Amino acid sequence: MKKTVPDILDHKGKVPLVVMTAYDYAGGLQCESAGGDIILVGDSLGMTVLGYDSTMQVTVEDMIHHAKAVRRGAPSSFIVVDMPFGSFQTGTPDALRAAVRLIKETGADAVKLEGGEPVLEIVQQLTQHNIPVMGHVGLTPQTATALGGFKVQGKDEKSAQMILEGAKSLERAGAFSVVLEAIPHKLGTLITEQIGIPTIGIGAGSTCDGQVLVYHDVLGIYDRFKPKFVKQYAELGRLSVEALVQYAEEVRSRAFPTLEHSFSMSDDVLKRLY
Ligand code: KIV
Repeated sequence: MKKTVPDILDHKGKVPLVVMTAYDYAGGLQCESAGGDIILVGDSLGMTVLGYDSTMQVTVEDMIHHAKAVRRGAPSSFIVVDMPFGSFQTGTPDALRAAVRLIKETGADAVKLEGGEPVLEIVQQLTQHNIPVMGHVGLTPQTATALGGFKVQGKDEKSAQMILEGAKSLERAGAFSVVLEAIPHKLGTLITEQIGIPTIGIGAGSTCDGQVLVYHDVLGIYDRFKPKFVKQYAELGRLSVEALVQYAEEVRSRAFPTLEHSFSMSDDVLKRLY
């Protein structure tokens, strides 16, 4: 049965929430079969699926296109869709318009947006209009350049305080959960203890109320860049290339296709064609 926002809130301090990213129909099918609690259609698709070197070029149209496919593969999952860069920075009315489109056109259940203090008014407005919001603080890839690159955040008092305050104010603004990305695990614990909504960690330690990893990282589809917080559970990238190489060899040697992969016809019919 599909989870609801109260079900997710109820995980606070209990069994950790399993959050997986997915970007297409097959990924949606697989994540739903794997029995996760939440599927996130992350704007990380800019890098994993579209081949950009950051998430900055991802558009609302891209998110809608991919989230619709995920929903077709995962009809019974609670789906969160990322608000891409540019869809909320231009003000609350634009943010509301983008979020309504993301929910209405994809069938997703909630949106996620990056940032603390600067997005509070938007989070308030979205939640007041019944659009559930997942927050995201710590390393926020849409502002990675300003944060000094893809680096751990919150190591000094000032930035740790800012992340903690950001998470607290997101709760006050009505967010139902908050992603904590690439922060020291003790800061992850402190934030998890001090807020009443579930924290979803990615590089924030084991005490968070849930964990999220990117699909391509879990499955080892690329080995281009592997952050410290990633655990790879398979090597599908290597297995895929090996399978494709074998296919190419078998085509060239005529080992494929065999009769097993071919259709037959009656010899009488064939004779009449010659
Ligand atoms: O875009 C994304 O996939 C994310 C997760 C890494 C949290 O924001």
